[in-house]
Amino acid sequence: MLRVGMLTSGGDCQALNATMRGVVKALSSNVQDLEVYGFINGYKGLIYGDYRLLTAKDFSGILTKGGTIIGSSRQPFKLMRVPDENGLDKVEAMKQNYYKLRLDCLVILGGNGTQKTANLLREEGLNIIHLPKTIDNDIYGTDMTFGFYSAVNIATEAIDCIHTTASSHNRVFIVEIMGHKVGQLCLYAGIAGGADIILIPEIPYDIDKVIEAIDKRTQQGKGFTVLAVAEGAISKEVAAMSKKEQKKYMENKKHPSVSYELAVAIQEKSGTEVRVTVPGHTQRGGSPCPYDRVLSTRLGAAGADAILHNEYGYMIGIVNGKVKKVPLEDVAGKLKSVSPDDQIIKEAKLIGISFGD
Ligand code: F6P
Repeated sequence: MLRVGMLTSGGDCQALNATMRGVVKALSSNVQDLEVYGFINGYKGLIYGDYRLLTAKDFSGILTKGGTIIGSSRQPFKLMRVPDENGLDKVEAMKQNYYKLRLDCLVILGGNGTQKTANLLREEGLNIIHLPKTIDNDIYGTDMTFGFYSAVNIATEAIDCIHTTASSHNRVFIVEIMGHKVGQLCLYAGIAGGADIILIPEIPYDIDKVIEAIDKRTQQGKGFTVLAVAEGAISKEVAAMSKKEQKKYMENKKHPSVSYELAVAIQEKSGTEVRVTVPGHTQRGGSPCPYDRVLSTRLGAAGADAILHNEYGYMIGIVNGKVKKVPLEDVAGKLKSVSPDDQIIKEAKLIGISFGD
């Protein structure tokens, strides 16, 4: 008998279900007695013993289904060692529930924060397999996370739609793209959508350079400009502040989102009217794109293969195009971000995209 626990944690994304399906399909093809326990709403389910025994029927027809059939929640890593309001030790509770169900292993689908807790549970002696999900593609040690290309598709479509209206009205438009503190999603959607200006956190922008790029287009007879702006983009002034000053600035600023702040700054400095569009959580929604379906199926199958060989303590990632087991201890707590020296940035600049630097 093989007993496998499974949970999805953090912000959802496309292909979570496809990945779980990949794991279970591969396991059930190779193991006769298999029990799969789904913990409800991420680590919360593991902490409070909220789980469901999942059957083959649960995994049928979910390859294309967005979201997660077992729910998700954000359980910050920094609070894991802090007892809950009733004094419950969360780490001990998770271990107890794991042992109570006599699990052989726990398959954890999640992003950076989730991975840190997965590594903590590994250090506590549990058998862990981590499968890297996020639309942000910011997980260190893997070239790609599932969810990313599905989100790129949606964000690109948003930019495409804005293009037609921006050109009809000769307007400047900002499309705000998710990605948390990393610009990967904005970079890819921006290039795919033909954005004229792309602003990402890794390349702090100079407002005068942004206006210069808009003016240049006007002088070339192009009446409209589309900016793809990462939600985490920051100006050169803010980037130069100390962490403490940045925190204070973020708390006191007039507009919670960088896009509206930028729109006001462009309008005030140049007199140009600017519109803002925020596709927001649509970027995480809906059906996974074919690439993500393939990626998640491969990662799921490789996760199952590791379980079948009793190999634990790994993230299953993509390294140089190949599926690889990456030791959790080598990657947990690290962030992957875009480098201003990346080839893709140089190529984007070559075709005339401005990064406001
Ligand atoms: O990590 C995925 C992500 O969608 C980020 O791009 C974004 O910053 C964040 O989650 C939004 O989180 P929430 O769903 O909690 O608002």
